Amino acid sequence: MIVEDASGRIVTAGMLVSQTLAFGGVRIPAGQPELIGTRTEYRGRGLVRTLFDTLHAWSAERGHLMQFIAGIPWFYRQFGYEMAIERGGGPVIFVDAWSAAPAEPDAEFRMRPLVASDAAFAARLDAGAARRYLLTVPRDEALWRYEVEGHRATSALRQVWWIVERRDGQPVAVVSHMKRLDGRVLPVTTFEVAGGVPWRTVWDTAARELRAIGEGLADRDGKSTLRSFGFRWLGRQHPLYQVLGFTGLRRPTAIYTRVPDLP
Ligand SMILES: CC(C)(COP(=O)(O)OP(=O)(O)OC[C@H]1O[C@@H](n2cnc3c(N)ncnc32)[C@H](O)[C@@H]1OP(=O)(O)O)[C@@H](O)C(=O)NCCC(=O)NCCS
Repeated sequence: MIVEDASGRIVTAGMLVSQTLAFGGVRIPAGQPELIGTRTEYRGRGLVRTLFDTLHAWSAERGHLMQFIAGIPWFYRQFGYEMAIERGGGPVIFVDAWSAAPAEPDAEFRMRPLVASDAAFAARLDAGAARRYLLTVPRDEALWRYEVEGHRATSALRQVWWIVERRDGQPVAVVSHMKRLDGRVLPVTTFEVAGGVPWRTVWDTAARELRAIGEGLADRDGKSTLRSFGFRWLGRQHPLYQVLGFTGLRRPTAIYTRVPDLP
């Protein structure tokens, strides 16, 4: 939704994304307001308050039972949201601690780009991982294909996806990272390993590759060097931290939620 002034200039804008969450396995249709902004000279006139009235009406029409948004701390409380879902908080780990071992020519695992035909494997792995968490965003095969093929190359939402596979081509893990460094940190956004496969060995392969990727990104941007892997987006609880003894969790932020029909 956009609001224009008399000359047709956009003065405030926002959108509503339909999502399906799962709470304890129960599917919940939800709406996600996004990209909220008001042109500087029009701020403080109630435009975003009006915008949210409209977005909430749309959300109700679409049958959403709740809304959620990540945004300015405390700001959205005035529109009926509470900072209820933990967001981020995973550790940051020096690359030197984990990726020094050189690649063995006959290493058991190798990493290659994830492609659309890996969607079924990724969806299965995702469903298994989801059992660890009370609240998840289920991703079926179609969504996985979208992750790989749906985002434009320039999209800020586009991540870089990898499969770790055995030498015979059997996939065993999905790994992703942001497409650029955050300062001297390569943000690792997914690390999920199939049942029965040793996480530590998979991590050894992935860490070596991720280090090379991070150093390549640092060279490309010419601004920085790679110092750490960041696991902020894996949250404060993840099996990788236990397997490798990662410590030093960060302070998480929160995702706001609004449940309009709470008594
Ligand atoms: C945050 C932003 C979207 C607010 O837009 P806006 O059109 O000025 O908001 P409104 O005028 O509708 O304000 C709604 C209420 O929030 C209050 N408010 C506005 N800016 C605020 C701020 N920075 N902190 C706290 N309260 C604020 C207003 O006083 C108003 O309350 P009231 O109705 O009780 O007087 C706008 O400042 C902006 O575009 N910022 C930059 C982009 C951004 O940060 N977007 C959000 C990303 S999550």
